Amino acid sequence: MFFVFDGVDGAGKSTQLNLFASWLRERGLDVVCCSDPGTTQLGNQMRSLLLGNHEVAIHMRSEMLMFMTARCQLVEELIRPALASGKTVVCDRYVYSTVVYQGHAGDLNPDDVWQVNQIATGGLMADMTFIFDLDVETVSQRLGESRDRMESRGAAYFQRVRDGFLSEAKRWPELAMLVDASGDIDSIQATIRKATESILENTLG
Ligand code: TYD
Repeated sequence: MFFVFDGVDGAGKSTQLNLFASWLRERGLDVVCCSDPGTTQLGNQMRSLLLGNHEVAIHMRSEMLMFMTARCQLVEELIRPALASGKTVVCDRYVYSTVVYQGHAGDLNPDDVWQVNQIATGGLMADMTFIFDLDVETVSQRLGESRDRMESRGAAYFQRVRDGFLSEAKRWPELAMLVDASGDIDSIQATIRKATESILENTLG
């Protein structure tokens, strides 16, 4: 099984991902966690370029392809082999992020970005993507003053990110579930676990 935690910045998805992975392990599953972009050597190098505060010019289409490069490597080096050996993969961000950050918010055509995703991942989609939603003001407060290259883009960009996730979540309702990230940690985790219980029941019988 392959699960993804995605959505707006500052929504607490990493905390939720760690709690979720521990819970899956308690249920006896062999769990591998990863981050997109990152986890592989190539992915980490792309991540530094993509998120670092530097002066290197990066066109939006280049940026999209760099996220895709990191993703392709992550899929081939880690995710596919893990799934093939029966492990459960939990990934921090994946295909929806590029469609939303570089597509909806970055003015690239979201359908084009879906097509490149298809090539980068060889068509590998997650069984379920939890999309964390939070209003832009709260996101901005939580991010504070110290921001990476992506987080420095300002409120208008983040509003487009939020709206993009809300619209993409509706595209394939069986593949993605919106999670209201304004609640407390335990109730958000409970919602995610409940949804997962039914997915596991349906899959494992
Ligand atoms: P993330 O790892 O969630 O950030 P952090 O570790 O700082 O919490 O995501 C990195 C940033 O990159 C985040 O602002 C979203 C952005 N991003 C894109 O713009 N496109 C993408 O395809 C991905 C995967 C992330």
